[in-house]
Amino acid sequence: MKAKGYILSLYLLSFSISIADEGMWLPQLLQITGVYQKMKDAGCKLTPEQIYSVNHSSLKDAIVLFGGGCTAEIVSEKGLIITNHHCGYSSIVNLSTVEKNYLKKGYWARKQEEELYCPNLTVSLVVRIEDVTNEVLKSTQNVTEKKQRDAIINENIQAIIKKATEGTHYNAIVKPFSYELQYFLIVYETFKDVRLVAAPPEHIGKFGGEDDNWMWPRHNADFTMFRIYVNKENKPAEYSPDNVPYKPKYVIPISLKGYKENDFTMVYGFPGRTQEYLSSYGVDVLMNDIDPRRVALRELKLKVLEKYMKQNEELNLKYANTYASIANYYKKWKGEMMGLKKFNAVERKRTFEKGLEEKLKFKNTALDSFNTVMKKFSEIYPSYQYYQMQADYFQECFMAIDAIKFIGNYVDFFTEYNRMKMGLSHQLDKLKSTLSASLPFQFYLPADKEIFIVLMNYYFENVKKKDRLPFLDSLYNQFNQDIQKMADYLYSNSLFLNTDKLRELLSTPNDQKIKDFESDVFYRLTQSIKLQFYSQILPHLKENDASITETQRMFVKLIIDYNKEKQYYPDANSTLRIAFGKVKPYEPRDGVKYGYFTTSQGILEKQNNNNPDYFIDDTLKTLFLKKDFGKYADKDGQLHIAFIASNHTTGGNSGSPVFNSKGELIGTNFDRCWEGTMSDIMYNPEICRNIVLDIRYTMFLLDKYAKCERIVQEIKKAE
Ligand code: ARG
Ligand code: GLU
Repeated sequence: MKAKGYILSLYLLSFSISIADEGMWLPQLLQITGVYQKMKDAGCKLTPEQIYSVNHSSLKDAIVLFGGGCTAEIVSEKGLIITNHHCGYSSIVNLSTVEKNYLKKGYWARKQEEELYCPNLTVSLVVRIEDVTNEVLKSTQNVTEKKQRDAIINENIQAIIKKATEGTHYNAIVKPFSYELQYFLIVYETFKDVRLVAAPPEHIGKFGGEDDNWMWPRHNADFTMFRIYVNKENKPAEYSPDNVPYKPKYVIPISLKGYKENDFTMVYGFPGRTQEYLSSYGVDVLMNDIDPRRVALRELKLKVLEKYMKQNEELNLKYANTYASIANYYKKWKGEMMGLKKFNAVERKRTFEKGLEEKLKFKNTALDSFNTVMKKFSEIYPSYQYYQMQADYFQECFMAIDAIKFIGNYVDFFTEYNRMKMGLSHQLDKLKSTLSASLPFQFYLPADKEIFIVLMNYYFENVKKKDRLPFLDSLYNQFNQDIQKMADYLYSNSLFLNTDKLRELLSTPNDQKIKDFESDVFYRLTQSIKLQFYSQILPHLKENDASITETQRMFVKLIIDYNKEKQYYPDANSTLRIAFGKVKPYEPRDGVKYGYFTTSQGILEKQNNNNPDYFIDDTLKTLFLKKDFGKYADKDGQLHIAFIASNHTTGGNSGSPVFNSKGELIGTNFDRCWEGTMSDIMYNPEICRNIVLDIRYTMFLLDKYAKCERIVQEIKKAE
């Protein structure tokens, strides 16, 4: 008995100490919230002003929101930035041709003139962040009608943005935090001339491919470098050959000194979305209903794609991007589901809720509020679950079939056409040219038909008759519940799968032709799918979402006010955050322990030149074999490739700088360990780890492999 008690208290102790690793903190509030003190206790040597300041230059002046959803950091006086290879992926692909395939061969600009402008790529610096909750909620106190309240809030937000940006070259947004409990104004400076400077070949940047994705141990150099260009006044400008490199307010120095177990680390970037404050109801639906369904549907599609991609190079290329993007979240959800189950997430949430209720026992108003919250959750979730199920089928089943997605564009086209009748407007012309550009098909009909069959089989096996789309169900019955037959008919008879007929339609659309196309069965099926989703599912889902947000807001308020032993942080919402933790190994399952870093030895172990995902070229291999690591070797004599730490991160943190205690760059964040991907819902310090590319491997590749002396020199080094 005694021994048991001892173990329990030890466990609780270790839990409460390491829980400090959880959290995505607001950099502008580090001091007020007391988070800074905890960072200091954990080993941080920076001052709050060095981390975030509006008056002086600080780390935040060297961290940018990259493209739509990654992070990058400034590492030279001439606006050089580092992000991930997978974040620069589409820019590299867009600049590549078969003759100049930078994805395959890599890209190293030897001179500044060789740096390549990337159309549509922007990066944004945060100028300042301000709490504007009172202004946003102004004049809403006595308004109970939701629509009216939303309209006032929207008007207030527009006014705040206008005031913040008027007469400047800045742009701004007002973001809700904590389910609209708080609002912050974020002012950005957005740069529009961003150029590619350096990218490793794909076999190095994405070494390990999809197998290694979300996994540890890891061995890919997930980095790309770009440069920010500005006009002569050092201000953002549209692309021009006259633009010059940006002179930043702050430059992050890199450190070649490495790290050891338990060293302090800090990740500073733009995490996208987490849901840490879901109730037991929310977690239950997510892990037992939503995740399994999405995983099952994606798995079916991936299996078919795999089969066809193996057939030949052309199919492999056609589906490479689709495959990678479906596989990424497929794997993430699978890990999340598994982790939540292993961690008894629903039980834990229930225990937490009971504990909260206990604390509110003699606090009447708060207890009433708690009871209302729980009652509301129990009422909303069944409805939410139903509409979310329908939405999942729309997204991951119907729209995952390329033919349906493709014909869906014609549903929009015909609707627009009929609305405008004969007068072909500018808009319609644009739609027409987009449709023409999609021919020949970007997908392969035999593969798509097989996807149709496996996904529809799943649908009919899992969706009860009363919940099925009526048009689809009657079609199913017309074909004697034989999906193969149904697919044979649709794929061989549809006018929409005949490129010549489509071209003819697009060249001279008229009422008669459109009528013929509109009576196509595949078209009618697609039309009913879209109609049902947009008119009968989406509005309810939005309503459910709004009620959940409102209830979560009350719930979070109770958590903030009464769950004092754990410090509250708002869920990620693509705004600038800080996560801090330690370099740490982990034990994913019984009997298995993972070390906290990998070395070039692991690349040699994984090498398999018959598999493009594990290919190593001779140049790299020779450097590894000769152990020609120069100053990039660790004290242990090895070349370290990647390391893991307990920083709480999520999608969007890709490319984020990972700092040591002195604010020097020791690596670039690029992934999370599979067993801990549940950290978006519930962080567990025992198994949640972020994966970081060691800056020394990046420098080694620039210097020894690519011989990019110019860039190596330019990057700022810590003293
Ligand atoms: N899992 C990482 C993230 O969520 C990397 C994805 C890109 N890499 C890949 N092998 N698909 O974005
Ligand atoms: N690869 C992710 C990204 O693109 C980061 C991994 C994660 O989700 O933590 O942001």
